[in-house]
Amino acid sequence: MEILNGKETAKSIKEEIAQAVKKRKAEGKKIPHLAAILVGMDGGSMTYINNKLKSCEECGFESTLMRYDDSVTEEVLLNKIQTLNEDKSIDGFIVQLPLPPHIDEMKVTLAIDPMKDVDGFHPMNLGKMALNLPCFISATPSGIIELLKRNKIETAGKNCVIIGRSNIVGMPLSILLSQNADPGNCTVTLAHSQTQNLAEVTRTADILIAAVGQPGFVTADMVKEGAIVVDVGTTRVEDSSKTAGWRLAGDVKFDEVAPKCAYISPVPGGVGPMTVASLMINTLKAMELKGK
Ligand code: GUN
Repeated sequence: MEILNGKETAKSIKEEIAQAVKKRKAEGKKIPHLAAILVGMDGGSMTYINNKLKSCEECGFESTLMRYDDSVTEEVLLNKIQTLNEDKSIDGFIVQLPLPPHIDEMKVTLAIDPMKDVDGFHPMNLGKMALNLPCFISATPSGIIELLKRNKIETAGKNCVIIGRSNIVGMPLSILLSQNADPGNCTVTLAHSQTQNLAEVTRTADILIAAVGQPGFVTADMVKEGAIVVDVGTTRVEDSSKTAGWRLAGDVKFDEVAPKCAYISPVPGGVGPMTVASLMINTLKAMELKGK
């Protein structure tokens, strides 16, 4: 069994980006600038945003965080997005999800200029991705693709089962892995809450991707011997042995599943760091696309 070490892979990607930024700086060119909007005090969102801002620093990017109280109105948020769309110094920006229930996430996503949508959530980017056209691919799916690629995982002709059909992970990843690309060319099954005999389905997987958001959902009996398992889960669970009082838990019961795998990505240190690295790739690309 080998570990798909997202932390190390992401570190290499960020070092490559930092080199490219250093070169730009030396040539007197613009440095990428990522802005992030964070609403409220959700612990998970604050952790993700902190990781994104820290990575900006590691890559030599400029970054700006805009924080709003939970009670912020949709109108204020939409106006801020308009300002960021028009601000030439900002190359890309993200609105950290989830948003409070009184704010329509789709309306917010649609308000973002697709050329600055480094999260790749806008339908323009999702549609282009489906047609294999140049676009911003959302960070988690593209991070997983990059993790497979950089670890030289053969995907062509393999049976891939993805559990979870979210707009952010499962749905786009099912499209990417079925495309005529490398990594890609998989026979993809997108399983979800209505899938019958799930364990039977997942046991057909050469590549199993768990994106359910339920700690320990994938057990050893659901995994074929020699499978490649990618764990997208990042749920905070209480853990009094940790200083913070919590730890991140994946969707896979690592201890019982790992011995059956050819490769497995851990949590933490697997997909999470790759997601952030992909956001950095997209931000650099957003700036380069504008010919800056
Ligand atoms: N919430 C969970 N994942 C993401 C992400 O990749 N981007 C944003 N903006 N919010 C998220």
